[in-house]
Amino acid sequence: MTTHSEETRRETWSSRVAFVLAAAGSAIGLGNVWRFPYLAGQNGGAAFVFIYLAIVLLIGLPVMIAEVGLGRFTRRNPVGAFARAAPASGWRTVGLLGVITGFGILSYYSVVAGWTLIYTVQAASGTFATLTDPGQTGRLFEHLVGDARTVLTFHALFLTLTVAVVIGGVRRGIERWTFILMPVLLLMLLLLVLRSLTLEGAAKGIAFYLNPDFSKVTPVTFLVALGQAFFSLSLGMGVMITYGSYLSEREDVVVAAVSVTLFDTLAAFLAGLVIFPALFTVEGVEPTQGAGLAFVVLPAIFHRIPLGNLFGTLFFALLTVAALTSAISLLEVCVAYLTDEKGWTRKRACYLVGLVSFTLGIPAALSTGASTFLSRLPLVHIGFLDLMDTIFGNLALTLGALLLCLFVGWRWAPEDALTGAMEGSAYPGLRRPWLLLIRYLCPLAIGTILLQLLMKLFVQG
Ligand code: PFF
Repeated sequence: MTTHSEETRRETWSSRVAFVLAAAGSAIGLGNVWRFPYLAGQNGGAAFVFIYLAIVLLIGLPVMIAEVGLGRFTRRNPVGAFARAAPASGWRTVGLLGVITGFGILSYYSVVAGWTLIYTVQAASGTFATLTDPGQTGRLFEHLVGDARTVLTFHALFLTLTVAVVIGGVRRGIERWTFILMPVLLLMLLLLVLRSLTLEGAAKGIAFYLNPDFSKVTPVTFLVALGQAFFSLSLGMGVMITYGSYLSEREDVVVAAVSVTLFDTLAAFLAGLVIFPALFTVEGVEPTQGAGLAFVVLPAIFHRIPLGNLFGTLFFALLTVAALTSAISLLEVCVAYLTDEKGWTRKRACYLVGLVSFTLGIPAALSTGASTFLSRLPLVHIGFLDLMDTIFGNLALTLGALLLCLFVGWRWAPEDALTGAMEGSAYPGLRRPWLLLIRYLCPLAIGTILLQLLMKLFVQG
């Protein structure tokens, strides 16, 4: 352990590579394989994909640099980071919003991660090989996620795993998992892309995924793409502030942020390239089918490859690990806050956050079939899991990122912001462009998109 701050002894990553891997571990997860394809499917396909890529580059990347920089400069959890950079101001509330968002996301994220665990077991027991009749993968999904006992058990199991790793601490717990497993997951995705692209009828899916029709774009498309960029890159709630706080001053934040963004975007893009070509070859599945999309389409691919059960088991197991490294980061934000600011022990914080998240996740777990009421809530007409995902996984992250831009661009001293984000960087020429993006383009774009949506809701309401 190295000491990097006057008052606190703080664990640090062993190197920049370790930071990149852990941050990529946080970023790459269900957001790439589960959320990105289904949102792209629901929001017009290729047009969404292009908007998403532009947003990642122009907004996601600068926000990531800002978050990591703020964390590295202050060496604090999100609440402490804002408090330290702007003492005696209300800005620490933004950090608190991040911690609450972390609780919210973790609660339902672990439900979906529970599904991947269920699918690992299903693949291992050979179920996919028996899916001969078209439409069966959809029925299997409904059957599995509609069973209260199964979903709750695996939700609990996944959270227990997450808590167990985070109790181990930053280096021993988090770094180790990411080193080998992330590259293997990417490699498997590549293999699946090859299979999916060579399926008969794949062309239709490729066109849907890569041939944009911008006439379908609405303000909602932008909001969903923006929220997805933050969700996928783990931005807007302080994960990158927390991980940046363990990063040494000698490291290059820009290079680290670019690497994480690249890995994450590549993983999402590949996942889409697996799902969409295959989708149109599975009967009874529409791109707009929603949260079950990946779970319905993937088994149909495994069914059509040699050693499909083995491959499927490995894939879902790795996806579970990818989800685990993301869930770890969600938990770590809440734990870092409770240990740094409230003086709790790591163990106590982990147990409490785990327990609260489990409880909060129960209605989400029951909202995919087990309870008819929770599956389609009155007024909003969506299920509880979707509602949580919209509130925490989209709106709260977007608001958090907007406030972060305003803070770093306008409230924090520009010199400190530049030191935090750019000190030690091999690309000093990027200082000005980054500051311009964070001060003007990012807050204006995020603010406009949020405002448009509010107006739409207001006018419609
Ligand atoms: N980025 C993760 C994923 O794509 O699965 C999910 C996530 C982790 C979102 C951490 C937000 C966050 F702060």
